Amino acid sequence: MRKKIVAGNWKMNNDLAETELFLEELKKQVFPENVVIMIAPAFTNLNHAFNSLRQHPAEVIAQNMHQSNEGAFTGEISAKMLKSVGANTVILGHSERRAYFNEDGAILSEKVNTALENEMTAIFCVGEELKDRKNGTHFQLIKTQLSEGLFHISNDAWENIIIAYEPVWAIGTGETASPEQAQEMHKFIRKTIAENYSNKIAENVSILYGGSVKPDNASEIFGQPDVDGGLIGGASLQVESFMKIANSF
Ligand code: 13P
Repeated sequence: MRKKIVAGNWKMNNDLAETELFLEELKKQVFPENVVIMIAPAFTNLNHAFNSLRQHPAEVIAQNMHQSNEGAFTGEISAKMLKSVGANTVILGHSERRAYFNEDGAILSEKVNTALENEMTAIFCVGEELKDRKNGTHFQLIKTQLSEGLFHISNDAWENIIIAYEPVWAIGTGETASPEQAQEMHKFIRKTIAENYSNKIAENVSILYGGSVKPDNASEIFGQPDVDGGLIGGASLQVESFMKIANSF
């Protein structure tokens, strides 16, 4: 059975003091029982967040990692390092990584392999730019992103994959995909997985929507049959809006 998930991607926000404030507030909340809650603080705050949330159901996850297990890669973070501070899930292929840090399909497929080899779960992000949607090439582009980054993995590895569909034109813009647009793409992603693997695998993978999800639009988006939750940027930075979204199923 696929899980319902609400994951907060904090991006490059919240220093240690701000992270502490958020966590103290988060710990006072009642968590919905049927929803997996995740937060992705900066690398520097992962250890603190993990220790702080030991008795709480929220999972602390990472925003990125390097594809190599170790070595001379100044400034980079390995899977082993993440696991050693309690992060067993990592976001890979976020559109900001693709756009600003030149992460392409080849690098991302290596990152996926490294995550799986290290028994981590990967939240693999795909998403088209506005020009792709205007050209009508958005379905093909998503298919290419999936096949380049993900479609080499084994059937069993899908247990450790979550997909996030984040249309680039909806990220941080206040312009969200309509529930129908989200559903249409999520259904397409599931069909593409079924064609390359099996119906069973496609039905069991959680597909999250990301891009300007807010408390006032979350329930309509999460109400779509192929949307299993959200990857939340801006609205995950305040406990109140994040929890409202987590309670929007
Ligand atoms: P916003 O919710 O700020 O649009 O960001 C979405 C996102 O990129 C999450 O990974």
